[in-house]
Amino acid sequence: MKTPVLTFFNNKGGVGKTSLIYHLAWMYSSQHKRVVVVDLDPQANLTAAFLHEDKIEQLWEQQKLGSTIYHCVKPLTKVGDIEEPILQNVSPDLYLIPGDVELSGFEDALAGEWPKGMDDNNLYRPMRMLSSFWQVMQMASKKVKADLILVDIGPNLGAINRSVLIATDHVVIPLGADLYSLQGLKNLGPTLRSWESLWKKRLDNWTDSTESKANPEFKLPKGKMEAIGYVCQQHSVRLDRPVKAYEKWVNQIPEVYRRAVLNQQNPETMKQADDPLCLATIKHYRSLIPMGQEHRKPIFNLTSADGAIGSHANAVQDAKRDFQELALKILNKMNCHDSERQERSP
Ligand SMILES: Nc1ncnc2c1ncn2[C@@H]1O[C@H](COP(=O)(O)OP(=O)(O)O)[C@@H](O)[C@H]1O
Ligand SMILES: [Mg+2]
Repeated sequence: MKTPVLTFFNNKGGVGKTSLIYHLAWMYSSQHKRVVVVDLDPQANLTAAFLHEDKIEQLWEQQKLGSTIYHCVKPLTKVGDIEEPILQNVSPDLYLIPGDVELSGFEDALAGEWPKGMDDNNLYRPMRMLSSFWQVMQMASKKVKADLILVDIGPNLGAINRSVLIATDHVVIPLGADLYSLQGLKNLGPTLRSWESLWKKRLDNWTDSTESKANPEFKLPKGKMEAIGYVCQQHSVRLDRPVKAYEKWVNQIPEVYRRAVLNQQNPETMKQADDPLCLATIKHYRSLIPMGQEHRKPIFNLTSADGAIGSHANAVQDAKRDFQELALKILNKMNCHDSERQERSP
């Protein structure tokens, strides 16, 4: 049984994706769901949120095998194999595979292996490379018996992100309410579908090969990348913009999401507030965000000693409820989709 992989994906940056994953990871671990978080964005912002700068500097300077996601997959670019990850234990049920600025150097290698996955022979190495992030995630999960793998990626449609999506079971799309997010969504849906079907072809090609019979232990991800919904980020809205402008964009999301991501031809129209596929509207948490960053804590764990007094203390409680609700909703969607799939299978 493989551990489910949940990726937050949007090809637009600055929509609050990394903060969302950071908070959800803390929330799940506080509920004793053991989480492995993987920072697959070469910008490594998520790693910076979890670890002190000194620690990150040490990891990047020492370049020890397995110490970052890049140092797990790097041996593949020579004659070596995937290295077991060295996990950072952030709290009892929260483990991190640190990110690495050097990961961007893996982009070209991955892009080069993609066509080789359709060759008639010598498939083992390309398939190992293309699935390497998944292999590392599952090694990590097995090591600590994780319930869930959460993944952060950069805002683009490149080869690294394609390999991450291949490794992904469930996708949540964080969106801002603006033109750029909606345009991004229009590209994102077709890209996901194309990656899914191209990976399926490579899997079939592998299954038919003599090498697959010679390597029965070699498991590959299914590449489900099933979109379970979107999260709307209110804070990315410019405060000087009228509410009307926000409403204009936000209420287009349900239809664009259904057309672009779910490939529906004549989707139902509805307001974003009524959309069951909208998993949450993330509020602007204002000064709680820098307060959380300063104390290296999720905002819902801030205390009066950290400066969360008066109205801030109430906002902390509200944030806790918001994230509890979102965490539960995501889990329900993941389970409910899994059981639907099981019922559908013969
Ligand atoms: N709910 C929120 N309220 C206020 N500011 C936020 C919120 N979420 C994120 N931010 C801030 O917005 C900026 C972008 O967030 P980040 O999570 O890095 O986005 P992304 O990963 O999509 O680039 C950061 O400065 C972050 O602190
Ligand atoms: Mg980010």
